[in-house]
Amino acid sequence: MTTPDRPTVPAADLTAGAVLRAGSSAVGMAGGEPFAVSRRCRHQLADLSQGSVDADGCLVCPWHGSRYDVRSGAMVSGPRGFLGYHGPTPGYTGLIRLLGRVVPLRVRRAVRRGDDVVVEG
Ligand code: FES
Repeated sequence: MTTPDRPTVPAADLTAGAVLRAGSSAVGMAGGEPFAVSRRCRHQLADLSQGSVDADGCLVCPWHGSRYDVRSGAMVSGPRGFLGYHGPTPGYTGLIRLLGRVVPLRVRRAVRRGDDVVVEG
């Protein structure tokens, strides 16, 4: 059961690479452990619960591919393009990545409780 202070998702729905919305958090699995981070990308505020988890266990933004360390919330690689553009943008990407490190995603505690993953705190 989901409550405003303890959002919950079914653990069985957290298949490889999947990310789900749990209240204001994006929840997934990385390295066999659940994670929960705030949902808004530091680039253009895409909903990270619509993203995916890559082979390195990073949360990948669905809009421009910024990647986040789900344990620290830091952006580890910046966007590839902006607005509708998806070409090379080295200076811009570096600037956004710096922002993503200075203002990381909020990391919340996610724990397995029976068949669910519960976001605490
Ligand atoms: S909104 Fe997330 S990378 Fe652009």
